[in-house]
Amino acid sequence: MTARLFGGDLWIRGGHVVGVDEVVREDVLILRGRVQQVGRAVLAPAGCPVLDATGRLVFPGFIDSHVHFREPGLEHKEDLASGSLAAVAGGITSFCEMPNTSPHTDSPERLADKVLRARARSHADFAFFLRATRENADRLGDWENLPGCAGIKVLRGVSGGSLLIPDEASLERVLRSGRRRVAVHSEEGPRLRLREAALAGRTDASVVEHPLVRDVGAAELSTRRLLDLAEKTGRRLHLLHVSTAEEVDLLRDRDLGDLVTAEATPHHLFFAAPGCYERHGTRVQVNPPVRELRHQESLRQAVVDGVITVVGSDHTPHTLEEKALPYPQSPSGIPGVQTTVPLLLTAVRDGWLRLQDLVRLLVVGPVRAFGIEQKGVLLPGHDGDAVVVDPQVTKPLPLDWLRSRAGFSPFVGAPLAGWPIATVVRGKVVYQDHGAADRPEAAPLSFAPAR
Ligand code: DOR
Ligand code: ZN
Repeated sequence: MTARLFGGDLWIRGGHVVGVDEVVREDVLILRGRVQQVGRAVLAPAGCPVLDATGRLVFPGFIDSHVHFREPGLEHKEDLASGSLAAVAGGITSFCEMPNTSPHTDSPERLADKVLRARARSHADFAFFLRATRENADRLGDWENLPGCAGIKVLRGVSGGSLLIPDEASLERVLRSGRRRVAVHSEEGPRLRLREAALAGRTDASVVEHPLVRDVGAAELSTRRLLDLAEKTGRRLHLLHVSTAEEVDLLRDRDLGDLVTAEATPHHLFFAAPGCYERHGTRVQVNPPVRELRHQESLRQAVVDGVITVVGSDHTPHTLEEKALPYPQSPSGIPGVQTTVPLLLTAVRDGWLRLQDLVRLLVVGPVRAFGIEQKGVLLPGHDGDAVVVDPQVTKPLPLDWLRSRAGFSPFVGAPLAGWPIATVVRGKVVYQDHGAADRPEAAPLSFAPAR
């Protein structure tokens, strides 16, 4: 376990603490960055700073285990400072960042470089996925426990122009090298290439076709093969951004328990084709695509039932200029790290989630999937990460609230019912009242050694 940096002292007073089972009127005392006491008779030391949470909800700090912050190499889209500022503004206190930066995070040196950068400039605690390639497949077992490593990421499809694990043999080598859970983007590359080739040369292609180009079959075929490989190798997998009812049915039918965990994203839970494309065009173009309503309904039920245990934003910022290119030249991706919490709080208002589900999906789910240590529900001994939320306010998402360099969200204007108003990382208020209050000495997440 890396030496924990000390944080601050803070008495979060007067709120209702949300746990996995209940919502209770309790205070939270954080000393030197760790939760010291949770209850009604908190004994805070004289002079302890106070954060008034009267009439508000107090959640444990939320973890976004799927973001792309684009540093190094793609900083015109986002960087670690701007992406993590958007994170803490949205109540996210820890993130796991993806390796498709430039260069890719595919070696210990490149991992260490990202850790150094984040220590210096991140507003939230962090970890970085290592990208599996044909070349490094046999070394991953040695690298996956390096400081700040969130685990291994495999990209099976073509996404962002790079095809890295095209064949089954390479994929099996990756799964046999190491023991930590492997996060997979599951779309079948060869099928995608054929279907995307059919688009080439057309001048009338429309983004409405995107879910047909990267079709259900590409996702279902890939996921079916991945479940087979997980059973064959015994390697634990995490299916990123499940996008189809067919994959949900596979997960239900195969019932592989902890061998395979699954993630849904807010855009797949809240948008549906074709309406979202007619209204937002390429701003909702993402891989894997948002599909028609039956998929959204199946994904929502899977989240409620616990078939899907993690919500990750898949924050994938591009500039508005890039998104304005004609389809299919327009890049896929939707910024979302700052809007996940208000959206899930809106699901609570709409009645299909409970407040406790946010703790299950954005804290317990990621902690269990990736073996994150020190983070979790508000209990003595855990890091003092917390989010104070005003559940009363329903208002249209304002564009000027967003901190991502992307400068847009397809959710702008949507009436959202629940807003983070103060974010605490290891006892320090890092974001409050629309402003960054402080930047913690951001630290790499600690992970339980792979078993
Ligand atoms: O839509 C996407 N954009 N999906 C991916 O897998 C990659 C991502 C990106 O990095 O832009
Ligand atoms: Zn992603």
